[in-house]
Amino acid sequence: MQDFSGTIAVVTGGGTGMGRALVRQLMAEGCDVATCDVIEDNLAETRAICEAEAPQGVRLYTGLCDVAVEDQVHQFADDVAKAFDTDHIHLLFNNAGVGGGGSFIDGDRGEWERTFNICWLGVYNFCRAFTPLLKNAPEGHVVNTSSVNGFWASLGGGIAHTAYSAAKFAVKGFSEALITDFKLNAPHLSVSVVMPGHVGTDIGINSRKILGGSDPEDMTDEEIQQFRENIVRRMGGPELTDDQIREAVRNQGQAFKQGGITPEEAANIIITGVKNDEWRILVGEDAKALDQAVRSEPLKAYDENFFMLLAQTRQSAE
Ligand SMILES: NC(=O)c1ccc[n+]([C@@H]2O[C@H](COP(=O)([O-])OP(=O)(O)OC[C@H]3O[C@@H](n4cnc5c(N)ncnc54)[C@H](O)[C@@H]3O)[C@@H](O)[C@H]2O)c1
Repeated sequence: MQDFSGTIAVVTGGGTGMGRALVRQLMAEGCDVATCDVIEDNLAETRAICEAEAPQGVRLYTGLCDVAVEDQVHQFADDVAKAFDTDHIHLLFNNAGVGGGGSFIDGDRGEWERTFNICWLGVYNFCRAFTPLLKNAPEGHVVNTSSVNGFWASLGGGIAHTAYSAAKFAVKGFSEALITDFKLNAPHLSVSVVMPGHVGTDIGINSRKILGGSDPEDMTDEEIQQFRENIVRRMGGPELTDDQIREAVRNQGQAFKQGGITPEEAANIIITGVKNDEWRILVGEDAKALDQAVRSEPLKAYDENFFMLLAQTRQSAE
C-alpha cells in the first residue's frame, strides 16, 4: 500500500512514543486513525496535538482500551466501526507494549503475566477483533511491533528478561507465519514485523505505571531491595542507599528517553517499510548490527562477551 490518503488505520498504544508518532504521521498523510491506550492523560494529549495539526477532514477516534483484555478489545472494534461508520479498516498497527517480567525464577508472577499478556495477547486480541474489518478492505496491512528481543532474548549485562522476550518472540513467530496464511487465505492482506533497537521513549516510565510499580517516593522496602540487587548484579560496586536508589529509579526512565533514535524517526522507518511492503522492518542501526551479530555467531549470542562481538560488527559496518 503506497498511498495512505483516504485509508483507515488502527494504532494501539497511541498515548505516547512510537504509537503517538505513528498516529501523527498517518494523519498527516490523510489517513483516518483510531487509537487506544490505558493512560488517559497521554491519550488526551495525543488527541490535542492531532486536532491542532491534522489536515482538515482527517478523522481521529480515541478510546481507552486495555489490549490484553479481550472484551475491551472487541468493544473498541465495535466503537471504531461506529465512529467511522465503516465495515473495514486498511491498516492495523499493534504497537502497545510494556517492559517488565524480568526473572521467571524470582520475579513477581503477576508482573510476568501482565507483561506477557500486553505484549503478546494484545497483538493476538487485536488481530482477532480486526481481521474481519481488514478482510473487508480491498487491501490491508497488519504491522506487529516485536523488538530486537524478538530475535535476541537478552538485554545483555546479566539481566534476566524472560516475559518480554517470550512475548516478542511470539509476536515475531506469529507475524512470520501470517505471511503464508495471508497468501493462502486472504491474499489482499500483508504483514510486517517491526523490530526496533533503542528508541528514546517513556516506555520505562509508562511500564512502571502500568505494571503497578510505585513512584520512587513511595517504593516499598522490598522494591528498593530488588532494585539494589539488580544494580549490584549488573554493575557491582558499593551498595546504594535507599535515597540513591529512589534517585536512580527517577533517572532511569529519563536516561532511556534521551538515548537511541527518536519515536518520530522510528515511525518514519516503520511507515516507509510498510509502503515498501517489507515483511521485516529493523528500526535503527543498533537493531541491524544486533541482527547481524546474532546471525553470524548464534551460539555466542548469550555469552558474556557478546557485546564485544556486537561492537566489532558495528565497527566493520561503519
Ligand atoms: N523504545 C524502545 O527502545 C523499543 C524497542 C523495541 C521495541 N519496542 C516496542 O515498541 C512498542 C512501543 O513502545 P514505545 O517505546 O513507544 O513505548 P511507550 O511507552 O512510549 O508507548 C507504548 C504505549 O502503549 C501503551 N500501553 C501499554 N500497555 C497497554 C495496554 N495494556 N493497552 C493499551 N495501551 C497500552 C502505553 O501507555 C504507551 O502509551 C512497544 O511494543 C515496545 O515493546 C520499543
